[in-house]
Amino acid sequence: MRFLLGICLIALTATRAAAESGIDAWLRYAPLNAPDATVATLSAQAPNHIVVLNATAGSPIITASQELQKAFQGVFNKTIDILYAADNCSSVIGSVKVLIVGTATSFNRLCGNNSSSSLVSSSDLVPDGYLWQLPSHDSSLPTLLLGQNERGTLYGTFSYLLELAQGNDPAKTASNATTTNGHTTHISNPAAPVRWVNQWDNLDGSIERGYGGKSLFFSGGKVVTDLRRAAAYARILASVGINAVVVNNVNADAALVHTPANIEGLGRIADAFRPYGVRVGVSLNFASPQSVGGLSTYDPLDKSVVSFWDGVTLQLYERIPDLAGFLVKGDSEGQPGPKKYGRTLAEGANLFARALRKHSPADSPGILMYRAFVYDQLQESNWRADRANAAVTYFSPLDGQFDDNVVVQVKYGPIDFQVREPASPLFGHLQKTNAAIELQVTQEYLGQQCHLVYLPPLWRTVLDFDMGKVDGEPSVVRDIITGERFNRLLGGSAGVVNAGTSDTWLGSHLAQANLYAYGRMAWDPTAGHDDGNDNSSTLSTPRHIIESWTKLTFGRDPTLVNTVADMALASWPAYENYTGNLGTQTLTDILYTHFGPNPASQDGNGWGQWTRADKNGVGMDRTVRNGTGFAGQYVGKEVAAQFESVETTPRDLLLWFHHVPYTQRLPGPGENTTVIQHIYDAHYAGAETAALFVTRWAALNASGLIDPERYASIARQLAFQAGHAIVWRDAICGFFAGLSGIADRHDRVRHHPWRIEAEAMTLHGYTKQAVSPAITASGGQAIVAAGRGQASASATIPTSIPPGVYTLAVNYFDLAGGRSSYAVQINGKTIGNWTGNAEDVFGKATSTHLDGHSATRVSFLNVVVAAGDTVTVLGTPDGAEQAALDYVSFLPEGVVD
Ligand SMILES: *[C@@H]1O[C@H](CO)[C@@H](O)[C@H](O)[C@H]1NC(C)=O
Ligand SMILES: *[C@@H]1O[C@H](CO)[C@@H](O)[C@H](O)[C@H]1NC(C)=O
Ligand SMILES: *[C@@H]1O[C@H](CO)[C@@H](O)[C@H](O)[C@H]1NC(C)=O
Ligand SMILES: *[C@@H]1O[C@H](CO)[C@@H](O)[C@H](O)[C@H]1NC(C)=O
Ligand SMILES: *[C@@H]1O[C@H](CO)[C@@H](O)[C@H](O)[C@H]1NC(C)=O
Ligand SMILES: *[C@@H]1O[C@H](CO)[C@@H](O)[C@H](O)[C@H]1NC(C)=O
Ligand SMILES: *[C@@H]1O[C@H](CO)[C@@H](O)[C@H](O)[C@H]1NC(C)=O
Ligand SMILES: *[C@@H]1O[C@H](CO)[C@@H](O)[C@H](O)[C@H]1NC(C)=O
Ligand SMILES: *[C@@H]1O[C@H](CO)[C@@H](O)[C@H](O)[C@H]1NC(C)=O
Repeated sequence: MRFLLGICLIALTATRAAAESGIDAWLRYAPLNAPDATVATLSAQAPNHIVVLNATAGSPIITASQELQKAFQGVFNKTIDILYAADNCSSVIGSVKVLIVGTATSFNRLCGNNSSSSLVSSSDLVPDGYLWQLPSHDSSLPTLLLGQNERGTLYGTFSYLLELAQGNDPAKTASNATTTNGHTTHISNPAAPVRWVNQWDNLDGSIERGYGGKSLFFSGGKVVTDLRRAAAYARILASVGINAVVVNNVNADAALVHTPANIEGLGRIADAFRPYGVRVGVSLNFASPQSVGGLSTYDPLDKSVVSFWDGVTLQLYERIPDLAGFLVKGDSEGQPGPKKYGRTLAEGANLFARALRKHSPADSPGILMYRAFVYDQLQESNWRADRANAAVTYFSPLDGQFDDNVVVQVKYGPIDFQVREPASPLFGHLQKTNAAIELQVTQEYLGQQCHLVYLPPLWRTVLDFDMGKVDGEPSVVRDIITGERFNRLLGGSAGVVNAGTSDTWLGSHLAQANLYAYGRMAWDPTAGHDDGNDNSSTLSTPRHIIESWTKLTFGRDPTLVNTVADMALASWPAYENYTGNLGTQTLTDILYTHFGPNPASQDGNGWGQWTRADKNGVGMDRTVRNGTGFAGQYVGKEVAAQFESVETTPRDLLLWFHHVPYTQRLPGPGENTTVIQHIYDAHYAGAETAALFVTRWAALNASGLIDPERYASIARQLAFQAGHAIVWRDAICGFFAGLSGIADRHDRVRHHPWRIEAEAMTLHGYTKQAVSPAITASGGQAIVAAGRGQASASATIPTSIPPGVYTLAVNYFDLAGGRSSYAVQINGKTIGNWTGNAEDVFGKATSTHLDGHSATRVSFLNVVVAAGDTVTVLGTPDGAEQAALDYVSFLPEGVVD
């Protein structure tokens, strides 16, 4: 042992947190209950020592060794010491059961020339890649976790530990593995170098489109002092292979890179991230030279502008030598850009790329991510000025004009993170330009973390999309973004995460699965497309990802794992069904919070999200023949031709590409039905699926499979979702029934036999109020408390609701600005009470109106009703909230209404 520089027994102070707040995400390292033979073997094989090949504090390798120690303690209750072998580790090899963690280079230098251990070949590793060398169970060879670089070492360690923490034998589950000479070698290389997260954090501490609390980085115009949560975030991100975070909003505040205090603050964030191998990136504001630099211009070709950005970049690199790069949103939604000076977007991008090139290390130049989300303010009255066309129109002619360290960051679809969009055709046009896909983990248009929407199946539709033949070869998006298809050196993924100070990071426990999946898919976007083969060697299918996440996050019980996986996989199809089926986009309010339904808000407002719904038909005509021409933007002629015709367009994109009468029969395989009837059927089916989540989740509690804290939080979210799915369903079905005048074949739409409208009840202290849009209230009206005191609404339960046992649902409006309290009574006896405090419980954007965002349902089970009973709702207003009520409904078992 004399060759070891230091021997250190790290005291284990951590006891397992009693409360499961969600803050450890999937890195809980919980004990494996119900241990099987595999777990027993893994436990028995736990190393005696962890040998770490770097002794520099803050090195990701030290971090890796600490994670190993923490995990063996948590998962197997084994206390293992860490040996620092900075000079020579040969003496420990062969003599004791060891696990060695470090870079492949340092391993070969320090340990690899020994009778018990040979040199490892690292020639197959790319930067950030890693290998595991796992001895067979009866061997005395060391276990090796070795990275191509320090970051790769940490990735290899986390992925190894995440297998152990699921009770998996890494030697058996490893893909891409070879077994020789008594050990198994597994090699994993990232498919692409750009695996970034974008945070839309503002310097005031708010997060644009963030639903998980306040900024982890900023408050009151400055970088916060306590960056422990920032470091904890980096840990979570590193565990799934993320290597950089752009910490501020793309709608960037120039002040961030303008003052020495802020640059120092960014430096402190970088310091907090560095032990996890996560680098800092910064969003820049194109107009900074003028707005904060005192120049008269921000023309990208002006010499003074070039030297302004040189200066900024130099200052940043002086403080942050490993700065990842910049992100720029220019000429989009009111943001300044190069077009003001008649310069191209490429000239705009290259301005920053050259500053980065000049000041960053030559072997890892800073990267300029340039967003393709460029569009002008559109015309209110001209649907043919199609926003979907903008990206290809602007960027296609510039292909080949961007510098090598520019990556064009392309949203998955041509509009804006809708519930379904065709893959952006721009991917097919970037053949001499680096490209990355931009995904949203934060659920802006997808229920803002209050709706369970598991996103990998949506992402797969884009990653697996073939842009068509270019030079006779297919051009699949996943191969384009990795650089493989068009031989690009750079490329990858950018995920807009917007995690915040909430203990759950995202505002919901279940939403964490999307962050986990984002990292997995950014590491390997090529694997995991479901080829229908259960024995497929790809271990990152959407189902596999949710199963592994569930085991790590909640536990390994098969019922629990199946329940969460089934719910997750049904969730996006269900959400699509009740918010925007057949390719109409999410029919939310695009002028307000992007949360609840408001289909009429899509058209005629300059944002260009047309549905063109009128009394005769619905859908955008994006054909070349007679529409906006968007279909013709796909580089593959066969792809363009497929979308050109109603008959060959997939059903789920029908209304994206075509304007059709409501009576149009749906094309292709599937039920022979009309567009309007499908709209009704899908909305009813979607709401029924959401209702099933509530009962499936409740069954887990009955079997005690989950801790009470997280169980209750998720139960509340799913109940909210089920209620809001009905709000969506009724609003969208009511909208189309009203426009088209065509009745639902099954007579469900605008026909609610189990409801009692609040406005039809006997009111004391309540007055009627119209709701806007009217489709978001049952009957178009609600009631609000007229004064400050308690108000009541009563009704004799009609004979159409026979005596029996019901679920009693109450629909009310939960607004920002007050916490009204409510109680519901049968014959004066209280059967339930609640508070309108969604603003404290959910991270979603709030509303100050009675509308589809504030419409909320609460339900009480097993309510017994006898003939002639009276139902009363008592509401006590609070602040600006008037204890508004929409209706009560008595639902027999199995009725979702
Ligand atoms: C040890 O880690 C530090 C910090 O990451 C790094 O600068 C140094 O090069 C590493 N040393 C070796 C020998 O790998
Ligand atoms: C963990 O191991 C220690 C001895 O190393 C033992 O005393 C303790 O009971 C174990 N804890 C559990 C939960 O098994
Ligand atoms: C490393 O340790 C081995 C075995 O103890 C010894 O033979 C060798 O000389 C050492 N090498 C160095 C560089 O210290
Ligand atoms: C391995 O050891 C042999 C013999 O001791 C020596 O010749 C050789 O240079 C060593 N290789 C490395 C990479 O250290
Ligand atoms: C699989 O291993 C080979 C070397 O054996 C390596 O070149 C390749 O990059 C690995 N694949 C992945 C996806 O990591
Ligand atoms: C072409 O579009 C116009 C409306 O813009 C419509 O009136 C006409 O029916 C369409 N023709 C065909 C062939 O789709
Ligand atoms: C679908 O149903 C309609 C109306 O019943 C019928 O006219 C049409 O032939 C059917 N189409 C197919 C493909 O079965
Ligand atoms: C979505 O709606 C379709 C059409 O009604 C239905 O077949 C399907 O089962 C629904 N899926 C979910 C998950 O609700
Ligand atoms: C329900 O009513 C009880 C008794 O008045 C009260 O203590 C409790 O806070 C109420 N709960 C809610 C959620 O308002």
